[in-house]
Amino acid sequence: MEGYKSISSMKKWLLLCILCILLPCLHYGWPRHYQFFASSQWHKNGDMLILLWHWPFGQSYGLGGDVCWDLYRIPHCKLVDQRSLFPSADVVVFHNRELIQGSQKLPTEFPRPRGQRWAWMSLESPNHNGNLQQFANIFNMTMSYRRDADITIPYGELLPMESEGSLVEDNSVNKSSLVCWVVSNYQSHHKRSRVFKELSAVVPVQVYGNWKQKPLSSKDLLPTISRCYFYLAFENSEAKDYITEKLWKNAYQGGAVPVVLGPPMSHYKDVAPPNSFIHIDEFKSVKEMGQYLQQVAGDKKRYAEYFKWKQHWMVRLQTDWRERLCKICSQENSCSPQYKVYSDLEAWDKAFI
Ligand SMILES: *[C@@H]1O[C@H](CO)[C@@H](O)[C@H](O)[C@H]1NC(C)=O
Ligand SMILES: *[C@@H]1O[C@H](CO)[C@@H](O)[C@H](O)[C@H]1NC(C)=O
Repeated sequence: MEGYKSISSMKKWLLLCILCILLPCLHYGWPRHYQFFASSQWHKNGDMLILLWHWPFGQSYGLGGDVCWDLYRIPHCKLVDQRSLFPSADVVVFHNRELIQGSQKLPTEFPRPRGQRWAWMSLESPNHNGNLQQFANIFNMTMSYRRDADITIPYGELLPMESEGSLVEDNSVNKSSLVCWVVSNYQSHHKRSRVFKELSAVVPVQVYGNWKQKPLSSKDLLPTISRCYFYLAFENSEAKDYITEKLWKNAYQGGAVPVVLGPPMSHYKDVAPPNSFIHIDEFKSVKEMGQYLQQVAGDKKRYAEYFKWKQHWMVRLQTDWRERLCKICSQENSCSPQYKVYSDLEAWDKAFI
């Protein structure tokens, strides 16, 4: 009897557990799938349908075939940009720039299918995102370089090397400039401009870009940077996690040691290789930093320390919007989306640290 009793109570528990798992699916998933069954060929294979409402900056990419699988090995993820598929989309993605400029509008006149989520996407820093107060209580997801976004889409990432890389060759050959900076949008109120001024009073800084009428073509960018010991990877904004291709591409791929100004040191330490960059906060003054750069450039061994990470890590750039969109599927693993609404997107966006 005892055994029988415990088996039956176990059964009850099992049933309860199954119900707990199934109920949310019933609530969010099945009715929706049923409702749009005729219009939706995707859901039958368990595919997620991601609708991009408009292409960022008006530049479209091909979505033929199974893009997420073919390019990124992400299964069951269908990307589309046909607005007629709105009723069957699981997630609809809106790029912020066009919304803020008014060239695109949210389809608020259509009823939002139950369970469908709207994603707000931006790779810009808060002070370039505009006023987001108008978007209160609209979006269910955020896609941004920020690590606390629902879908984090960084400018670049670090991958561990499968086998130890070959010893890096002498990094100090062919260097003709101590410090280089590429700047097109120079504004004297930017912190980076003040630091540049102070630094160039201590050490020579070679400046490229539109500001000094020395534009660099994309072909010339990395070879030019490779001839510099240090590259000023100065962000135009100091914002949480805002680390752009200036670090990932220009400095690391160019082969110059990045001197960084942007988010605090700890944000860089969390995502960038150890001992691969110099943060301006490491110094009491810009003058001190200038002296340090000079010393390190004059000491082959010390300079080489800044490249040791290349034996263990590889930098991978993320530049394709399709990859960012496919990422939505790879980060979703439950059958029912969690209820979530950004009641104050402006506050979320403007939060610092
Ligand atoms: C240095 O420059 C020379 C001539 O431009 C080139 O042949 C050589 O590959 C360069 N070395 C490195 C390590 O970049
Ligand atoms: C998404 O946000 C809308 C608007 O606030 C809300 O009605 C809906 O329930 C949310 N959906 C999910 C799955 O969180």
